[in-house]
Amino acid sequence: MNVLILGAGGREHALSWKISQSSILNKLFVAPGNAGTANIATNVDLLVTDFDAIANFCLANNIEMIVVGPEAPLVEGIHDYFEQHEQLNKISIIGPKKLGATLEGSKRFAKEFMMKHHIPTAKYKAFTKDTLEEGYNFLENLTAPYVLKADGLAGGKGVLILNDIDKAKEGLTEMLTQDKFGEAGNEVVIEEFLDGIELSVFVLTDGDSYKILPEAKDYKRIGEGDTGLNTGGMGAISPVKFADSLFMTKVESQIVTPTIQGFKKDGIDYKGFVFIGLMNVNGNPYVIEYNVRMGDPETEVVIPRIKSDLLDLFEGVATNTLSERDLEISDQTVCTVMAVSGGYPETYEKGKEITGLESVTESIPFHAGTKSVNEKVHTNGGRVIAVSSMGRNTKEALEKSYTSLAKISYEAMYYRKDIGFDLD
Ligand code: AMP
Ligand code: GLY
Repeated sequence: MNVLILGAGGREHALSWKISQSSILNKLFVAPGNAGTANIATNVDLLVTDFDAIANFCLANNIEMIVVGPEAPLVEGIHDYFEQHEQLNKISIIGPKKLGATLEGSKRFAKEFMMKHHIPTAKYKAFTKDTLEEGYNFLENLTAPYVLKADGLAGGKGVLILNDIDKAKEGLTEMLTQDKFGEAGNEVVIEEFLDGIELSVFVLTDGDSYKILPEAKDYKRIGEGDTGLNTGGMGAISPVKFADSLFMTKVESQIVTPTIQGFKKDGIDYKGFVFIGLMNVNGNPYVIEYNVRMGDPETEVVIPRIKSDLLDLFEGVATNTLSERDLEISDQTVCTVMAVSGGYPETYEKGKEITGLESVTESIPFHAGTKSVNEKVHTNGGRVIAVSSMGRNTKEALEKSYTSLAKISYEAMYYRKDIGFDLD
């Protein structure tokens, strides 16, 4: 099979690393990719939302399957676009159509879906600038902290969690009337605060059956001890101890099954990943958000734990035969530690030469923001390299990642030294 992966981060490097090992792969392309994917696939200079250019490339290169990494092409309808064009509709797309992608594209839509299908989530109400006063009243009837979410896509930055009622009203006013978070904030979901520990659960579905992939914990804050600004993710670990079989049984019966059945009931044709961000509140799972793609950096720990052929599973998704495919998961622990550019998640510089990657032997350095320049690897983003390692336990896996990170160097390199501090 000829496969095109869309995206340029650590998630896409991890997906290409795994797919490149498949016995049914012929040629692998990544658009636009990075210096890591260039070593195992052919990078193609395409914008992930330029559907015409992607279509032309697919036709010229006999692409049979597109694996969509990030959410933007899905929310903009890449799956619908390919299905609607006669020459393109034989190409399988791993990722939902626009309607399914709305689960990530609109928080209100996701909340309504959960309410309708009795999926546990925080109580909420949605407001627009015409209902601002009602929003203030709703806030007054909640207790602190107050959770305000821009309805639309805001690059993971559209959530405010505030302790003070006046600050919460100010935040709501700024989102609804002053374009804080731009158009994404034209509608705001206000919800009850859930006090617990977060977990990322991943499901692969062909629309009828599903497989639950390894779960992971993501470390989102820039600073050690989970302090400072939110980032795209500074590290991840899988498996997660508190996600034991009792907890995961609740996740499956209360969340995963009703979600997949909800798709069918609502006529949502869903083929791809469902990423369920949830909170464990006193042993019970509540959905915080749905994403319609894999997480990053969670993919860098989830994928190495999958022993089965990922392309075979994807073929099962495309042909509605997922239930006939095997998913074998390693019981080893995988951790990843993200090295970032100094200054991230605020301003940072790019174009710094990265050295030492070739001396990493015990870990897989998944490239997140890198670029090849004259045979050298340069930094090309905030998150630069996710160093993933496998071990018998969290401690062993982490030691390998930290040993490997000590061999890698670039100007103003930073990474958290305490990933996993709250586990084991
Ligand atoms: P989201 O963009 O929905 O993932 O929200 C970003 C982060 O805000 C989440 O990862 C949680 O840490 C936090 N968060 C979102 N909703 C809630 C909630 N209802 N209660 C507590 N924390 C929340
Ligand atoms: N790591 C969280 C995300 O990918 O959204």
